[in-house]
Amino acid sequence: MQIDAASSDERYQIRKLDVTDKNKGFMELLQQLTVCDSVSDEEFQKRFEELRSCGDDHVICVIEDLVLSKIVATGSVFIEKKFIRNCGKVGHVEDVVVDSSARGLQLGKKVIGFLVDHARMTGCYKVILDCSADNKAFYEKCGFKEKEIQMVKYFI
Ligand SMILES: CC(C)(COP(=O)(O)OP(=O)(O)OC[C@H]1O[C@@H](n2cnc3c(N)ncnc32)[C@H](O)[C@@H]1OP(=O)(O)O)[C@@H](O)C(=O)NCCC(=O)NCCS
Repeated sequence: MQIDAASSDERYQIRKLDVTDKNKGFMELLQQLTVCDSVSDEEFQKRFEELRSCGDDHVICVIEDLVLSKIVATGSVFIEKKFIRNCGKVGHVEDVVVDSSARGLQLGKKVIGFLVDHARMTGCYKVILDCSADNKAFYEKCGFKEKEIQMVKYFI
């Protein structure tokens, strides 16, 4: 699909998650990323309110395709408050996914730009994320560089 920058800006609106986005395919989009069972409207609303109460410390960004009224990209950033670095703050980018039908349109880059700007604006000294080797080149295009390794312990 070829689409010029001006019509792309009109069609694809970037903003923070709204509670009504559940009805615009937000959960189905997350299912393209990882295991993500469907949740009831009540569960969604409860989690949405919890996250909203974190204010700028937890932001979920979405891109809505205004033609289809569908959420086609998302990503989140969590702001961690530390004692080191003069009580510094670090942004953690998570859950980045673009709908399979909308990849290659620079929407992923737009989401990362939104989240990085938010981390910078809230005073973070760095922003970090984990990714697969397959996505390394994408994040490099977004200005990230590889550093160290990831460790994990799952509970379930
Ligand atoms: C990875 C992902 C988010 C990229 O989103 P996208 O909207 O297709 O990427 P963009 O169109 O914004 O690409 C930006 C640049 O990165 C490049 N790029 C994107 N994915 C790439 C990849 N896997 N390998 C190499 N380059 C890649 C693009 O060619 C583009 O380059 P350009 O600026 O020179 O034109 C998307 O493919 C996706 O959702 N994948 C499945 C879920 C996933 O793996 N999420 C990441 C979890 S860490």
